[in-house]
Formats: sequence, C-alpha cells, structure tokens
Amino acid sequence: MGVEIYYFSGTGNTLHVARELKRRIPETTLISIIGALKKEKIESEAEIIGVIFPIHAHTFPLVVKEFLKKVDLQSASYIFALSTRLCVDKVFSAINKILKKKDRIIDASFAVNTPVNYVPFFAILSEKEVMRLEEKLQTRLDEIQAIISNKQTSYERTGLLGFLLANTLLRFSTFMFQKTGYFGLQKAFYADDKCIGCGTCEKICLSNKIELVDNKPIWKENIDCTYCFACISYCPSIAIQVKGKRTTKKGRYHHPLIKAEDIAEQKL
Ligand SMILES: Cc1cc2nc3c(=O)[nH]c(=O)nc-3n(C[C@H](O)[C@H](O)[C@H](O)COP(=O)(O)O)c2cc1C
Ligand code: SF4
Ligand code: SF4
Repeated sequence: MGVEIYYFSGTGNTLHVARELKRRIPETTLISIIGALKKEKIESEAEIIGVIFPIHAHTFPLVVKEFLKKVDLQSASYIFALSTRLCVDKVFSAINKILKKKDRIIDASFAVNTPVNYVPFFAILSEKEVMRLEEKLQTRLDEIQAIISNKQTSYERTGLLGFLLANTLLRFSTFMFQKTGYFGLQKAFYADDKCIGCGTCEKICLSNKIELVDNKPIWKENIDCTYCFACISYCPSIAIQVKGKRTTKKGRYHHPLIKAEDIAEQKL
C-alpha cells in the first residue's frame, strides 16, 4: 500500500520535485528508475504510483520508456506522470500508448516548469530566475499534491498549438535527436585542462560510461549515455565540455539543494 514515486534525474530538478511531493504526501517512497531497471522484474505493491522525469528532446527520456515497459502496475488504483519541464500533452499520450499494452492508462498528468540544464543549446538561468521558478513550483506542487491525494483525474492540455507542434516540428526534432544520439553527443564530451582529477564525473555518471584514466575522465565508447547531463553539470571545475558547442563560455546548472552524491545514489 502507500505511494511509490519512480524518478530519473540528471541535475536534480526531478529529484527535488520527488522529495517535495514526498514531504507533502504521507507514506511516500521514492524509487530510482536507474536502480529499478537493474532488477529482473519491477513489481510494486503501492496503491498510488507516480513516474516523474525531465523532458529530453521534447519527450520522456529513453530510460523512462524502458521502465514503463518493464514495470508491473497491477497494485495501483491511481497512476500519475509528471515532467519537470513544460511539454506538449502528446508526451503523456505516448506514455498511455505503452501502458495500454498492460490495460492501464495514467489518471493524471502534470508538467511543471524548472530551470533548463541543456548547456549546448540554452543559456543557464541566473540565481534570481531560479528562485523565481522555485517559488512558483512550490505553489504548483501544493495543487498537485491535493489532486494526487484525492486521486482525482486531471490532464495537462496544450491545445491546438501544442497539437500542431507535437505533430510537426517537435516530432521531427525528437526523431532526429534520438536517431542521431543527440547529434553524436556521447562522443563529444571531453575534459579540458581545468580538470583536477577529483573523480566526481566517474562516480555520478548514471550509465557508468566514465572512467578515470591517469586522473582524467574518458567516456567509454561501448556504453550508451543516458544523456542525463550529470557529468557536465556537477564537475566542480567546469572542465567538461561538448566539442564544437562553445560550452567553455557558459555556466552550468544543477539544482542548488541536490548534491552529486544524491544523483549518484540512483545507481544503488
Ligand atoms: C539531453 C537533454 C535534452 C533536453 N531536452 C529538452 C527539451 O526538449 N525541452 C525542454 O524544455 N527541456 C529540455 N531539457 C532540459 C531538462 O528537461 C530540464 O532542465 C529538466 O528539469 C532536468 O531535470 P533533471 O535536473 O532532473 O535532470 C533537456 C535536457 C537534457 C539533458
Ligand atoms: S568532475 Fe571535472 S574535475 Fe573532476 S575528474 Fe571529472 S572532469 Fe575532472
Ligand atoms: S556521460 Fe554524462 S551525460 Fe552521459 S550518462 Fe554519464 S553522466 Fe550522464
């Protein structure tokens, strides 16, 4: 019985939201999707099951897809999904498409706005802007908690513009990002000479793709990246860069309350 929230988080926004929901909803357990995927079967005994994740290329991350296919949801009388970026409602219909194969659909969907971490494309927000989003988030999470605790149905709706975008530009963009592995991103990471050999990137990498060799990280080619952005975002020296993307001149973002160890714990 109780509530189980499954989460995947690279830079802490999703873990922060998971913790804030746990604080508001009694008898809630947080479970890492990365950890759960190591098990042969993912079985739950919870009455309420939530899945929360960042948006990657306008949809849910590939590890979340893997999780949704594997999880047994039989015990749940209420299922919700929450993304930690605003997104089109098609993201949640895509989740339903997977769950329908188990004769289930989500009872509620939510999208909350949190700071962007994707350094190659976006500028990182100032501390003030991060605080402003956090204040709004707290109010929204109070509303979300009430909906979940009362097991209400409630769906994100993005209207005609969302529908048109989801079926044209975003669909093409998602396809291209996933097909090309974010345009070769996992082969484009490198550490510049600011690296102090601290090993944080190796410890935190959610796919164990990074190994320290002679006190410098290498990204192993035979292991797939989850594109979580933990390495580039938590390096204390801002030494990790993406080739050809001018990341050297940009700041980095991770949630101010979530430490590198909290992210690494997802692997346990
Ligand atoms: C590989 C990657 C792709 C992303 N794609 C999008 C996107 O398409 N749209 C968007 O709004 N944010 C995108 N983001 C930003 C994250 O969804 C956002 O910062 C999220 O809150 C991060 O959550 P986390 O800190 O729990 O990892 C992307 C981030 C990464 C790392
Ligand atoms: S986290 Fe940064 S400084 Fe530490 S080993 Fe990795 S690249 Fe070097
Ligand atoms: S290499 Fe970086 S982005 Fe890829 S899984 Fe490891 S920590 Fe995440």
